[in-house]
Amino acid sequence: MPALSASASGKTILFGEHAVVYGHPAIAVPLPDISLTVIVQALPNQKKIRIVNEGLDEDFLLDEKESENPYAFALETIRNYLKINHLPAMQLTITSNIPPESGLGSSAAFSVAITRAVTSFLGFRLALEDLNNIAFEIEKRQHGTPSGIDNTVVCFQKPIFFRRGQPVEFIITGKPMTLILANSGIRSLTKEVVDQIREKKNKETEFVDRIFDRIGSITINARLKIEQGDQGSIGQLMLENHHLLNELGLSLEKLDDLVETSMQSGAFGAKLCGSGKGGNVVALVPPEKSNNIEKALMETGAESCLVATIETNTGVR
Ligand code: PMV
Repeated sequence: MPALSASASGKTILFGEHAVVYGHPAIAVPLPDISLTVIVQALPNQKKIRIVNEGLDEDFLLDEKESENPYAFALETIRNYLKINHLPAMQLTITSNIPPESGLGSSAAFSVAITRAVTSFLGFRLALEDLNNIAFEIEKRQHGTPSGIDNTVVCFQKPIFFRRGQPVEFIITGKPMTLILANSGIRSLTKEVVDQIREKKNKETEFVDRIFDRIGSITINARLKIEQGDQGSIGQLMLENHHLLNELGLSLEKLDDLVETSMQSGAFGAKLCGSGKGGNVVALVPPEKSNNIEKALMETGAESCLVATIETNTGVR
């Protein structure tokens, strides 16, 4: 069997993270300039599955029964979904330039790419919905209670308006949007932060619910402004969303500084994105100011910046 390769991109959440876990809407866009690739090769005359991930310094033979291992449970999930008893010996080589634990979708990209690669290798041609369902099952085992927004945007590769348990809606942007993702360099684990917010919601239910309601309204409004191409209003809504996430304790001084710098150097708006307590800030910027804003963000201490353009027609360039 020839080697087979599949990739999946990163993503960012423009509105509604955390609230989306509790049924509110959220908006996410794919980031095709960063991606994770899985190459599958047959290992003739061998019995085991070999994992090679140079970025994580991993090279080992997989024990498929080790249920805590992310590769093992991803493969088990795929196997169960396809209703096959046994996977052939193969090597999975994983490469990625998506920064891990930074809110840019590295785990969703892993779930989608491994599913795409292994199912194609086995001769299955999955519909996007099936691919998304399997990736969601893998995400659940990694994160406990994911909303499903990450795997969905990575799978469909279009800007999405997402509500848990409802059919995904695609957004056609009224104007191209230039985004800068400024990485704080501080890593944070989605599962831990989502667990902390759950605890907070259990203790301070009214307070947290009020904030989530406001984030939900902002997201609905933002969808309209994105469709109209009203970047000034989108930016304002991003800032409001950031402040509400901050009230939940999800921001850090460095994230606030990056938001502040974006605004002072001419962004329409900026906010933390993803689970927070680290990771990235996303800024919506006028394209002609993007170089200057990026420079200012690096001077403020961003570890790296990624500039991405969301086009109007397909949604993605
Ligand atoms: O994976 P991250 O860090 O981009 O965050 C995911 C977004 C959350 O709303 C915090 C969790 C979820 O499952 O929707």
